Amino acid sequence: MACTITLTVNGKAVTREVEERTLLVHFLREHLGLTGTHVGCDTSQCGACVVHVDGRSVKSCTMLAVQAADCAVTTIEGLAPADGTLHPMQEAFREHHGLQCGFCTPGMVMSAVDLVTDNPDPSEAEVREGLEGNICRCTGYHNIVKAVLAGAQAMRSADTEAAAAAE
Ligand code: FES
Ligand code: FES
Repeated sequence: MACTITLTVNGKAVTREVEERTLLVHFLREHLGLTGTHVGCDTSQCGACVVHVDGRSVKSCTMLAVQAADCAVTTIEGLAPADGTLHPMQEAFREHHGLQCGFCTPGMVMSAVDLVTDNPDPSEAEVREGLEGNICRCTGYHNIVKAVLAGAQAMRSADTEAAAAAE
């Protein structure tokens, strides 16, 4: 059965008719063309599909699109500011070679941003634990962890600068 849902995706209001069984990941990719969110498994293990729903990371293959009705969804396409610069976490992945093929990267970055939002100064062990739900087949994780630690530092600096500017 189809139903109409309204939600906010990357800051824009979206209304679409969807089948009740449509997964959020398929809604984002096929209905909205936001193909930065990847599908890497059919067992909810890889984390390539991670997006933020109301600010929290969610594996979008484990959620129905109808469950995201009235929520604010952010995908990797909506993470960077509108001026075209990269988000500090994206910049850190680029700078520290936190990717090879890039397939896992959108989910890694979205999980990392959520992790750092909760814990602005994580230890290496906390980063490794926080990314347990994200699988990378290429990098061996070492540079991903380095990138997340650097991204956390950059996010802290950005927050400090924003607070200073607001005073
Ligand atoms: S596609 Fe969602 S966890 Fe793999
Ligand atoms: S960079 Fe290839 S799967 Fe992670």
